[in-house]
Amino acid sequence: MKTPAMPMIERVLFSEDEIRERVKVVAAEISERYKDGHLKLVGVLKGSVFFMTALARELTIPIKMDFLAISSFGDHSSAPGVVRISKDLDESIEGEDVLLVEDIVDTGFTARYLMQHLSGRGPNSIAICSMLDRTTRRIVPMQIDFRCFEIPDRFVIGCGLDYNQLYRNLNFIAVLKPDKA
Ligand code: PRP
Repeated sequence: MKTPAMPMIERVLFSEDEIRERVKVVAAEISERYKDGHLKLVGVLKGSVFFMTALARELTIPIKMDFLAISSFGDHSSAPGVVRISKDLDESIEGEDVLLVEDIVDTGFTARYLMQHLSGRGPNSIAICSMLDRTTRRIVPMQIDFRCFEIPDRFVIGCGLDYNQLYRNLNFIAVLKPDKA
């Protein structure tokens, strides 16, 4: 899906080129940080898939990839904070340098839970990289080690982010019209 001329879109927040350039910069920071070893990227399904593959292609260090999926009970506005793993990693992370990869951090509940939970599995190190950071919605303090963009408090779609499971495959990130959200 390449054309931004879509009725559900209010405006494009970040173009395909802007995202590509920013991902390159963040990937260079990560490659420098882990230049003496290798890294395991852990993606959180489903939203992180597009960002994770874009990031992985720009990294200059050897990487492994694994995925997990989470379920949040209640919607994010009424009952945030209860998270469980619905699909676990395929392999151990013991002794690994782990980078948790997210498409977005909002309240911080998911990221905090996963960072704490995965830390208990004995990784050599663990950090988090998120494509988007919506700090205005943060409920629990959560520092993002690597992030591409901070965004305003609007509903966004594209590059893995969905509305009712649609629009993840947009090559850009856009604000959804309020009457659609
Ligand atoms: C999104 C995102 C994070 C989480 C962040 O996932 O991918 O995992 O929400 O929200 P929080 O900071 O408020 O915890 P979502 O539940 O939308 O699932 P998806 O990745 O399958 O779209």
